[in-house]
Amino acid sequence: MERTLAIIKPDAVARNLIGNFISRIEANEFRVVATKRAWLTKELAERFYAVHKERPFFNSLTDFMCSGPIVLMVLEHDNAVMGWRELMGATNPAEASEGTIRKEFGLDLERNSSHGSDSPENATMEIAFFFSQTEILP
Ligand code: RTP
Ligand code: MG
Repeated sequence: MERTLAIIKPDAVARNLIGNFISRIEANEFRVVATKRAWLTKELAERFYAVHKERPFFNSLTDFMCSGPIVLMVLEHDNAVMGWRELMGATNPAEASEGTIRKEFGLDLERNSSHGSDSPENATMEIAFFFSQTEILP
C-alpha cells in the first residue's frame, strides 16, 4: 500500500467543502489513515513549500496557505500518489478535466483547493513533516 499527503487548502475549508473531499476520496477507494485540522504559520508554510522558494509565486502561495485552517490527511491506496493527483486534476482549475476536484471546487491557479504529494519519496517526507507515526492508523 502506498501513502500520500493530501491537504484541503484554506479556500475549500472556508467554503465548507471538507465532506465533499472525503466523499470523493472514499468513493475512489482510498483509505483516510490519518487526519487533522491545522492553521499553518508563515514559517511552517515556507518550510513545507521550500522547493518553490525561488518561484515568483512563493510569497503569495505561503500567505494563502496560512490564511485560514487547512485539513491534512494521509491517504492509502495501491496507487496513492498518482491516483490522488489524478483525482485532483491539473494545478490550474481552468485546465483541469471535467469531474476532477480542482475543476469542480478550485477558484484559480493559487486557490486550487487541494494539495497532493508529487512522488512516493516526497510523500514520505511530507507525511513525516505533519504526522507522527502514532497518528497514522491503518
Ligand atoms: P500542490 O503542490 O499544491 O499539490 O500543487 P501542484 O503540485 O499541482 O503544483 P505546484 O507546481 O507544486 O505548485 C504549488 C502550488 O502553488 C500555487 N501556484 N501558484 N501563481 C502561480 O503561478 C502558481 N503556480 C502554482 C498553487 O496553489 C499550486 O498548487
Ligand atoms: Mg506540488
